[in-house]
Amino acid sequence: MAKKKTAPDLHWLYEAAVQNVDTDLDFAKRVYSKHWKRKPLTVREDFCGTAKLACRWVARNKKNEAWGIDFHQPTLDWGVEYNVAELSDEQRQRLHLICGDVLEARTPKVDMALALNFSFCVFKQRDTLRHYFKTVAKSLNDEGVFVMDIYGGTESVMAKNDDVREIPGFTTPDGVEISDFDYLWEQAKYNPITHHTTCHIHFKVPGHGSINKAFTYDWRLWTLPELQEILLEAGFSKADVYLHDFDDDGESDETFRLRKTCENAQGWIAYVVGIR
Ligand SMILES: C[S@@+](CC[C@H](N)C(=O)[O-])C[C@H]1O[C@@H](n2cnc3c(N)ncnc32)[C@H](O)[C@@H]1O
Repeated sequence: MAKKKTAPDLHWLYEAAVQNVDTDLDFAKRVYSKHWKRKPLTVREDFCGTAKLACRWVARNKKNEAWGIDFHQPTLDWGVEYNVAELSDEQRQRLHLICGDVLEARTPKVDMALALNFSFCVFKQRDTLRHYFKTVAKSLNDEGVFVMDIYGGTESVMAKNDDVREIPGFTTPDGVEISDFDYLWEQAKYNPITHHTTCHIHFKVPGHGSINKAFTYDWRLWTLPELQEILLEAGFSKADVYLHDFDDDGESDETFRLRKTCENAQGWIAYVVGIR
């Protein structure tokens, strides 16, 4: 196939650099089965963007069903064009995409709700976050879990904090070849008084140059105790924190364990789980 020079679509770069939907789904399933002694079948992906995780869920098992919610129609449309297009007709019947606000959208009750890549940090007021958690709790079956993730550590509370990773290249379905590229996470602003932060994702793709501020987020960086407290205030019976350890190179070992205490580190990512 002839090499195309078209600029890579940002969603391809984002999905390759940021998302690992199988790791997230495996984790959520493990926690679900630990609490409820059965396999989960239904999933709600909040802030679903391109709905990669919801699509993966319905592709994994013919009994699985998923709802994805995002209020940005163009991103959902991209997901339909590329991720939903990979599904069979039968799998598509078990996938439901809703263009709407996660604070208001209604779905049938599900076994697992997921809000990943820190997306809930758009809610900066405690009342709004509690309202969101209550909405999620109402959307869960009596045997249900809510999984979200959050980052922290000493570097996360620095005004300027950069993290660069090399991401393996790939070819998109429409034939755009992307070589190994750089993903840069920049925490451009951080206000210790409010924990409000502005972060950018930049990419550097050989042959295509630098793509600055591909994505920008204005968030409140919530802390682990705040998230646990607000989950309980919203009616969850239990709120747990799962953290990874570090390998010899100081990288995450990608194995998340239930923790009550841990040593702080420069940077960590945790799953926070609300049990219905
Ligand atoms: C950081 S992306 C997350 C994409 C993907 N789910 C992931 O895990 O990487 C955040 C997404 O949340 C959506 N979003 C932000 N606020 C929202 C809200 N109140 N209701 C629904 N979607 C929202 C944005 O349109 C965007 O697609």
